[in-house]
Amino acid sequence: MVLIKMKILVIGGAGYIGSHTVKELVKEHNVIVYDNLETGHEELVDKKAIFVKGDLADKDKLNSVFKDNKIDVVMHFANHALVAESVENPSKYFENNVFNGINLLDVMVKSNVNKIIFSSSCAVYGIPKEIPIIEGHTLNPINPYGESKMMFERILRYYDVAHGIKSISLRYFNVAGASLDCTIGEKHDIETHLIPIILDAALGKKEYMEILGDNYGTYDGTCIRDFVHVVDVANAHLAALGYLVKNMQTKSYNIGTGQGYSVKEIIELCKQITGREIKTLIKEKRKGDPPVLVANSDRFNEEIGWNAKFSITDMIQHAWNWHQKNN
Ligand code: UFG
Repeated sequence: MVLIKMKILVIGGAGYIGSHTVKELVKEHNVIVYDNLETGHEELVDKKAIFVKGDLADKDKLNSVFKDNKIDVVMHFANHALVAESVENPSKYFENNVFNGINLLDVMVKSNVNKIIFSSSCAVYGIPKEIPIIEGHTLNPINPYGESKMMFERILRYYDVAHGIKSISLRYFNVAGASLDCTIGEKHDIETHLIPIILDAALGKKEYMEILGDNYGTYDGTCIRDFVHVVDVANAHLAALGYLVKNMQTKSYNIGTGQGYSVKEIIELCKQITGREIKTLIKEKRKGDPPVLVANSDRFNEEIGWNAKFSITDMIQHAWNWHQKNN
């Protein structure tokens, strides 16, 4: 579908998934990135986008961005996203992911902007009863992070009823990889994600990587995850944008590949792709880790026409290219 050029406000566009989405968006649209740079990095923001340093809590600043620009659609990535931290500090998660998110919605209402795409998460499902997980699965988050995502999805539905704000919530599974030209990638000050941690061990930055539990009831005892390439996730946002503008309906969709890999399988693939030795150590399970998370993304594929293009080896190869360049 050919879309007219729009002005997209990307909240949290200097973060990992946000910056990859901005890189794709600027090819077709005018983009303003609004980010407080707490966990994001300005150098990841494409030069074709306008950058505004600002916090989601700063309602005046948000108001002025909407006042100075005729925003067509908002994309909202600016959430805290560490499960373990959310268990220790729930206030941080509810305050930013829910309360500050409401600031954004209220400014949208005031500014007559009625379209938003929200970064949700598979964490809304908790420990799934059925695999692969469909969107209709019970929402039963088991930590404040997942709870905050579920709450915000629900708030979005109420803002549709009250104010006609239409939203698409994308429930990402495990996002991995980096841009194909190796200009941007995953850059977290505190790294908790599996693939970058394994690649740190491959680079010798860590003596070994820890396998967090090898006695789950899975085929090799380690957790199984559905990894999806960050560029596929970015393109899912562009597809969702076209759909939202055309259909003006509030919806939630899973974004995954439908293919699960165990932690041990990912380590093996990383060994093959990097050609490096990767030492491992078996540790205790991490609290709140569901044994298996695999998406059924048929709804998004069928209704919106998006398909993941990249394989797990692409994800690891692209992450490795980026990791070597940036460490
Ligand atoms: N893991 C290890 N060792 C590590 C890091 C991770 O064995 O050093 C394991 C974890 O225990 C888990 C798997 O690798 O089984 C994947 O862990 P990640 O931290 O990379 O990703 P998660 O599955 O925990 O996180 C994803 C999303 C979150 C979402 C969560 C829902 O990144 O946004 O799923 O459970 F909230």
